[in-house]
Amino acid sequence: MKKVITYGTYDLFHVGHLNIIKRAKELGDYLIVAVSSDKFNEIKGKKCAIPDNERMEIVKAIKYVDEVISEDSWDQKIEDIKKYDIDVFVMGDDWKGKFDFLKEYCEVVYLSRTPDISTTKIKKELKLK
Ligand code: CTP
Repeated sequence: MKKVITYGTYDLFHVGHLNIIKRAKELGDYLIVAVSSDKFNEIKGKKCAIPDNERMEIVKAIKYVDEVISEDSWDQKIEDIKKYDIDVFVMGDDWKGKFDFLKEYCEVVYLSRTPDISTTKIKKELKLK
């Protein structure tokens, strides 16, 4: 069984999120999505509209997702890859090159982002209304 993992915040879930999750699943048989915890976002200086338990619940309900875990630190990725026996690590190409150091442990794939949508953009547009 080919296992895939991807990481993200998934705040205000949108079609860009759905597309990358769908395409990540197509790269294997079992997809794990690591959703950033509120505590980790605090460390990153990021504030979510939706609390972590709800973001995780939404991602878990997506039919392409087999398992959701919590992302609590920058450096848990190597541990996760070993622990969950991951074959493919997937991120959007906004992260291109940033995780090449994981190639020692598994395949690393950067997928193109869906154009013209992001949580940041949605937040900005809502503020304008
Ligand atoms: N993603 C994507 N296409 C988009 C937006 C996000 O493929 N239009 C991907 C990202 O590359 C990442 C995953 O979805 O692999 C989760 O991204 P996240 O940062 O949670 O979403 P964004 O909408 O980019 O959020 P923000 O604006 O807060 O950075």
